Amino acid sequence: MIKLFLFLFPLILNAAPDLYNQGKKLYFSKGCNGCHGISAAGSAQYPALAYRRKAFLTHKLKEYRAKKGATQLSQMMIPFAMGLSDREIDALTTFFSEYREGKSTYTPDLSNRGDGGS
Ligand code: HEC
Repeated sequence: MIKLFLFLFPLILNAAPDLYNQGKKLYFSKGCNGCHGISAAGSAQYPALAYRRKAFLTHKLKEYRAKKGATQLSQMMIPFAMGLSDREIDALTTFFSEYREGKSTYTPDLSNRGDGGS
């Protein structure tokens, strides 16, 4: 019995690969960083993704993947979501929601605010 366990253990570890690091790799290999920034902090019209809620980001990516997007800006995003599998979306949103690179400049309340038009 113990032998069976020792045999299975590496397989179990393999079956639960590190989603966070997979997401991080995908983020750069799919070119997401080109718009959302190297630390997923966004800029101007590109929304920040680091520290955001997984459920929300998953919902958005699945909508873009289904080519749903009401705004002109979402048309920009759709081609990048179209090729993503459920698993890749899971990995990417894990990376965003658990972001721990420690270098995101994103400040949730102060960024992207207008100055009131003055
Ligand atoms: C060409 C620029 C561009 C690239 C590359 C890009 N995005 Fe986006 N992304 C955008 C824009 C613009 C929006 C905002 C769209 C809108 O307003 O609906 C957006 C929105 C999003 C959102 C929703 C955020 C929110 O607050 O609504 C997520 C999640 C997202 N992108 C993830 C990704 C991922 C993951 C990749 C890589 C596979 C990626 N993006 C690549 C431009 C880009």
